[in-house]
Amino acid sequence: MAAKNFKYVILGGGVSAGYAAREFSKQGVKPGELAVISKEAVAPYERPALSKAYLFPESPARLPGFHTCVGSGGERLLPDWYEEKGIELILSTEIVKVDLAGKTLVSGTGESFKFQILIIATGSTVVRLSDFGVKGADAKNIFYLREVDDADKLNEAIKAKKNGKAVIVGGGYIGLELGAALRINNLDVTMVYPEPWCMPRLFTADIAAFYEGYYANKGVKITKGTVATGFTADSNGQVKEVHLKDGTVLEADIVVVGVGGRPLISLFKGQVEEEKGGIKTDAFFKTSVPDVYAVGDVATFPLKLYNENRRVEHVDHARKSAEQAVKAIKASEEGKTVEVYDYLPYFYSRSFDLSWQFYGDNVGETVLFGDNNPASPKPKFGSYWIKDGKVVGAFLEAGTPEENQAIAKVARHQPPVGSLDQLAKEGLSFASKI
Ligand code: FDA
Ligand code: NAD
Repeated sequence: MAAKNFKYVILGGGVSAGYAAREFSKQGVKPGELAVISKEAVAPYERPALSKAYLFPESPARLPGFHTCVGSGGERLLPDWYEEKGIELILSTEIVKVDLAGKTLVSGTGESFKFQILIIATGSTVVRLSDFGVKGADAKNIFYLREVDDADKLNEAIKAKKNGKAVIVGGGYIGLELGAALRINNLDVTMVYPEPWCMPRLFTADIAAFYEGYYANKGVKITKGTVATGFTADSNGQVKEVHLKDGTVLEADIVVVGVGGRPLISLFKGQVEEEKGGIKTDAFFKTSVPDVYAVGDVATFPLKLYNENRRVEHVDHARKSAEQAVKAIKASEEGKTVEVYDYLPYFYSRSFDLSWQFYGDNVGETVLFGDNNPASPKPKFGSYWIKDGKVVGAFLEAGTPEENQAIAKVARHQPPVGSLDQLAKEGLSFASKI
């Protein structure tokens, strides 16, 4: 089979790929120059929808409703859009072999693709319980959530196990969003996680106490400080029980596991420099290999604000890094340069009627402000992180768009603070003054 030749190839068909394709089109790309190669069967879409509106019992989100770039208020790129622009969307095609120096990709069916410039946008995959040797983890109705196919299977099970029991393993993003989604679908939900409180990689004990209390009020049971050590299945191979390390046995018709993500970089092992579990890039997302870029979840890039190389597994960075890489590629073709990437970390989540945003860095001392009583009719609270006398991070639950902008500004400008007590008293008004 003759190799297909492209000037630019985006490897991966997720969030970064969609935003990179749009940026190529904005900057000018000739028909036939660009290909997007994805193992998924659908055009790039806004992945965050999968753990939220995709699982709603009423009026759920469905494709083509949430193809990129609607998540940031942009144009929705349907397969027709790629065709009109002469961008080849090569779907259901998994790349299994890569030769970066030889500029060749090979698919599982033996097709070869040649590129002049490659953007690696393979994202992450899920960490599996079988990776830790948990027994019985291959039983039916144990789900992970990464791609739309996974969400479809989970939705089928939710319908089949109406009013049944669900166990959520993991207390991070997936755990909290799926715990809520399954409860909204009227399942009897128990969450299990090893840490003393949920989302420990971001939440303080005070922040977590609010969400745990709110979830409890919604009928979600929470078992902390232990892990799943095994599953038993019925005679059809369907999961029946979850065995915990502390000896508890939970009945389960459905199990959802969210115990972390792992960037998909094994295809490039030994061919490109790595750092902190990702592919090392510069501020233009260029890797150590000429003409090869890496964006989104897989990139370990210089986070200018903190003078440190970091990897970020969130959608805002996936979008912005993709745009930055394409701008840099197009500029360098004209002998020009673009500004270095100057990213302000931004994470958010939504579940039940709740919605929070976080900007900046969660290091140093913390100050809580506002009403974080989960039983309040309209709870609204936040937290600042203070390091070396400056506010470096800010979190807000139930903020308006203006208030969220204000906390973003605080995290960006890092204003000095005198007294933490005073900061706690001022609360949101401190941010609004900046
Ligand atoms: P992404 O995972 O989007 O895309 C990678 C693509 O590459 C996939 O299409 C994959 O199939 C393909 N691929 C991989 N290997 C391949 C190969 N060998 N050959 C061909 N194709 C290959 N973030 C946030 O800030 N807020 C949120 O609310 C959420 N919510 C959320 C929900 C769920 C369910 C998940 C899984 C993740 C989130 N995230 C999030 C995280 C966010 O979605 C994530 O950071 C971005 O999707 C990363 O974009 P990428 O393009 O890097 O990878
Ligand atoms: P995560 O890192 O957010 O959470 C992992 C959690 O797994 C830990 O907090 C811990 O509670 C738990 N855990 C670890 N080992 C365990 C074990 N042996 N048994 C039980 N629990 C264990 O990862 P995730 O929630 O799986 O999310 C996967 C990816 O998807 C991440 O990249 C995340 O950023 C992304 N995501 C983001 C959002 C968002 O930003 N709103 C939403 C969904 C998913």
